[in-house]
Amino acid sequence: MSNTETAARPESYPMTGGGGTYSYSSNSIYQKEAANFVKELIDEEIATKLDMKCFTTSTSNTLRVADLGCSTGPNTFIAMQNILQAMKNKYHSQGSLPSEMPEFQVFFNDHASNDFNTVFTSLPPDSQYFAAGVPGSFYGRLFPESSLHFVYSSYAMNWLSKVPEELLDQNSPAWNKEKFHYTTAKEEVANVYAAQFAKDMEIFLGARAKEMVVGAMMVVIIMGFPDDIHHSKLFLGQSYDFLSSCLMDLVNMGLVSEAEADSFNIPVYGPSPKEMASVVEKNGCFSTERMQLNDYTYKYDAQTFLKHQRATLESILTKHFGSEIVDQLYQRASQRSAEFSSVLHSSDAAMKNQLFLVLKRK
Ligand SMILES: C[S@@+](CC[C@H](N)C(=O)[O-])C[C@H]1O[C@@H](n2cnc3c(N)ncnc32)[C@H](O)[C@@H]1O
Repeated sequence: MSNTETAARPESYPMTGGGGTYSYSSNSIYQKEAANFVKELIDEEIATKLDMKCFTTSTSNTLRVADLGCSTGPNTFIAMQNILQAMKNKYHSQGSLPSEMPEFQVFFNDHASNDFNTVFTSLPPDSQYFAAGVPGSFYGRLFPESSLHFVYSSYAMNWLSKVPEELLDQNSPAWNKEKFHYTTAKEEVANVYAAQFAKDMEIFLGARAKEMVVGAMMVVIIMGFPDDIHHSKLFLGQSYDFLSSCLMDLVNMGLVSEAEADSFNIPVYGPSPKEMASVVEKNGCFSTERMQLNDYTYKYDAQTFLKHQRATLESILTKHFGSEIVDQLYQRASQRSAEFSSVLHSSDAAMKNQLFLVLKRK
């Protein structure tokens, strides 16, 4: 593999591991239900568009499926089970005999710092596949050439490979002094995030194009937003703004320095369908089988939301501010949660915010 195929060493902010109060596995019901929301669409795509007969040969009867950004579970197990069941259903519907059923190998990928122990100790005992862990960034090669038949990634590709440098450069028009995200920041900041997303996707698609066999399918589920709506309306940004104002409370209390707060940025991006279409077109190796924005509403209360947000942001916050500040930050957020409830239940939170994409390797 050449160096040009991998991005510069990526930053990694894994979800909170283990099974404790603030762990991802205990606080990822949003992602679980959001993925379940599109289960029938995935079943339909597999039933109507995935031709698996050409994947197996006289020397290999194995189908290889990968979940990119699997985190600690349990969502990944549910998704893999559903996908494998849909594949088996397709074989049955084509009149295949049980003896003709392929064997399945499932690759669980995430950053090396992900809590893979939790993944493997909680593997469902009745899982009918060979499981393997693949540590490393999906913004680079992870698998041998032409080895994958199905790729799945849910709520993972929103994470950029790094915080764009310009956000920290005081001489750059994109210096993001008072905010820690782009959604309600100045346009220059949003442009830098968008450019980083496009660069990362170019590497992602380039790597997958090599790894997937012709005819293989890729399903991507991520937070997105409509082309014709300004990103300042995004619920994601409003929720980060709330956290940012709680962080400012800690600055005013003298617990966090202004410089520390100013230099913090969250590398999470939500693309529009137009942006996604443009990176897929530029890559040229995939056909777009389906792309749509779904209305997937966040229907939990503010306290549940804050625990969910903490499970996803804890590692990046701890790296920057230390764990004590993370406790104080979320105590403050919890005290002000009534004020956050109105944002959570505003119409914007129900806006089309789930981008569902199905690609096939040409
Ligand atoms: C919000 S979690 C989603 C987990 C799971 N797919 C689900 O739906 O519950 C995002 C996951 O993506 C992983 N991730 C982010 N960037 C990644 C990268 N470049 N390579 C591999 N994994 C990455 C994170 O470490 C995290 O575990």
